[in-house]
Amino acid sequence: MKRPIAHIAGTGRYAPAQVLTNQDWEARLDTSDQWIRDRSGIAERRVADDRETIAYMASEASKPALAEAGLTPADVDAIVLATASWDRLLPSQACDVQAVLGAKNAAAFDVGAACSGFLYATNVAEGLIATAQAETVLVIGAERLTRIMDWEDRSTAILFGDGVGVAVLRPAPGDGRGILSTYMKSDGTLGDLLYRPGGGTVAPPSEQLLADRSQYIRMAGREVFKSAVRSMADACDHALQRAGLSGDDVDLLIPHQANIRIIEATAKHASIPMSKVYVNVDRYGNTSAASIPIALDEGIREGRITAGMMILLVAFGGGFTWASAAVRW
Ligand code: COA
Repeated sequence: MKRPIAHIAGTGRYAPAQVLTNQDWEARLDTSDQWIRDRSGIAERRVADDRETIAYMASEASKPALAEAGLTPADVDAIVLATASWDRLLPSQACDVQAVLGAKNAAAFDVGAACSGFLYATNVAEGLIATAQAETVLVIGAERLTRIMDWEDRSTAILFGDGVGVAVLRPAPGDGRGILSTYMKSDGTLGDLLYRPGGGTVAPPSEQLLADRSQYIRMAGREVFKSAVRSMADACDHALQRAGLSGDDVDLLIPHQANIRIIEATAKHASIPMSKVYVNVDRYGNTSAASIPIALDEGIREGRITAGMMILLVAFGGGFTWASAAVRW
């Protein structure tokens, strides 16, 4: 396949205004600001209010992304949305975003790959453009994790936050800019390390489910950590190798923002200094599928990402899934 086929023509993000700090967690649970910072690098995260559904937040984040690309919602051919925290289980989250945004000419569907979802969705969007099925694809990573985490479980709750990031994918301009390589991988045998046991058709809502709190995220943190370090390294290697690049060629690494220690291990593996790594896990916590597109949009707005730069995007998540992309900006 001749690349680049697609490029990112616009980005946007939505972060709820409400901030939940580590001090707020200290007041609720047996934890401390020090413990959370030391183990995860997180200082605060955002929490969506009742009005801030994923459909609403994603629609708001899509507007500036489309405007930057010189487009309107009516120009969107496809919406590919990645989430693990749907507003409702049916229809797809993408269809609910389509309705709120008024993207009436689009095909809309979800991609489920947990925290790797945005990169999986980007990969699907590139395929739609490569096969001329779409010219303008809204790729959305959107999460409201504070609604699916257990607020009484100190080992998971302190990690997660809410938010949305959006990228508009269009055919590459032909000047070398665009997506140079992508990579996706999964290992379903590790599914039970990070999952929601209840609420699906195997264990539908019941009194027992509520008593067990099994509708919420459960995670084996230490095992997830080890797998994450391994899979992030593998993802870095493959995107670079497929693009014919090395770590030295990377101007900015944007890793999934789950834990500063995983981010540091990933950068070290790829021989990329931390000065070339985008970090905002301290301010947002882990926003799963939204973390990379939020960081991407912040990086652009802050002027850290400029034309011609080589950007490496790397993610891992529940499933397990992991993925990466090398992008000439
Ligand atoms: N505050 C204080 N103590 C806590 C705590 C909290 N919020 N959560 C757990 N602890 C305690 C544990 O009970 C344990 O106590 P013990 O030694 O007396 O049994 C101790 O801290 C160490 O727990 P452990 O889970 O081994 O800590 P850790 O160093 O592995 O850090 C995570 C925990 C969750 C921060 C870390 O494992 C992690 O980040 N894992 C990856 C998670 C992730 O990225 N998930 C998303 C995937 S996309």
